[in-house]
Amino acid sequence: MKKVKIKLGSNSYEAHIDSGILSQTGRKLKKAGFVDKVVIITNPVVKGLYGEALEQSLTPEGFTVTTLQVPDGEEQKSLETAGRLYHELANCHAERTTPILALGGGVIGDLAGFVAATYLRGVPLIQIPTTLLAQVDSSIGGKVAVDHGQLKNKIGAFYQPRLVITDIDTLKTLDNKTLSDGLAEVIKYGVIWDKGFLTYLEKNIDRIKSLNEEALEEIIFRSAEIKAEVVAKDEKDLNLRAILNYGHTVGHAIESASDFRVGHGEAVAIGMIAAARISNKMGILSENELLRLESLIKQAGLPTKLPELKVEELISAMQHDKKVLMGKIRFILPEVLGKVFITDEVNLSLIEQVLLD
Ligand code: NAD
Ligand code: GLY
Repeated sequence: MKKVKIKLGSNSYEAHIDSGILSQTGRKLKKAGFVDKVVIITNPVVKGLYGEALEQSLTPEGFTVTTLQVPDGEEQKSLETAGRLYHELANCHAERTTPILALGGGVIGDLAGFVAATYLRGVPLIQIPTTLLAQVDSSIGGKVAVDHGQLKNKIGAFYQPRLVITDIDTLKTLDNKTLSDGLAEVIKYGVIWDKGFLTYLEKNIDRIKSLNEEALEEIIFRSAEIKAEVVAKDEKDLNLRAILNYGHTVGHAIESASDFRVGHGEAVAIGMIAAARISNKMGILSENELLRLESLIKQAGLPTKLPELKVEELISAMQHDKKVLMGKIRFILPEVLGKVFITDEVNLSLIEQVLLD
């Protein structure tokens, strides 16, 4: 088993990463001092796959388990669904000490995390991420949120989990699209923080795509480690943490302008290349490094070119994004592979030029 420590003073916690670790959840919770009652929040897809295994690890350790389900889908990240969950928690007499176990992808993690942060002013949260994106990104760092109208992820809190239990085996049931959503974020960590990690990805991309356990464990571990390092330096997203949004300025615009027909991973992949091209055209990122990144993204099965979308719509979407500060579009640009900088000074004409290329 690999462990990543997220160092946040009295809110510190660990992510435990291994194959088959779901079956150790009961033991781990007992060791962490939990007793008696736990509530699992999940969806029917994940419950069908992993609900029973999780319950079977909890009951022999003396836990009484209540499982609450929400339908699958991003639209469940809502105040309405949170409200329904508050009622259900009250009905099953969940108390201040009752941990909520978020079993699922980023949607469940964000929603259950939001509910844990607010129910009775905060109950313990355990993240059990089951998608690659959730394992390398959303389960770590304590951002919990629901969407509200146009406000995506804007009603939320910083609420750290007590423990993250990452079972690599759960990735075996993911479809390719959901896997590649996570892979785009994994590549992101290499570009923003660690060129050596990018080299590892280049050498092992086929093993990763074929779900080789050792390779998966390595990339989840290193990604979680990088996220933990960034979050430890800037938990509340005041400066450095913004680099985790590399590729997301253009990425979010593509998702929104395409009415979410282009998936998150694909959009972020195109966004990472757009940002790298902007940096290259500004005379910063070398041509060699740009080509190297393009090649890795292609090998990962992700796109590098824009789908048929109007550039004006993309620019407008960028101008309405949460990364806009005082009317300026904020970009995270690679200086070299492994190091990025944050800037609000990219000319609109350069953005247009890169998007039209
Ligand atoms: P998701 O949670 O919707 O999961 C994708 C699909 O995979 C769903 O249909 C789900 O039911 C299914 N699924 C989950 N685990 C599975 C498994 N092991 N096998 C088969 N199917 C499985 O999507 P996601 O990509 O995991 O997360 C996206 C969400 O994460 C978005 O809401 C985004 O805003 C949020 N997010 C949050 C943070 C953060 O820091 N909090 C960071 C990145 C993304
Ligand atoms: N996923 C971006 C962050 O956690 O800050």
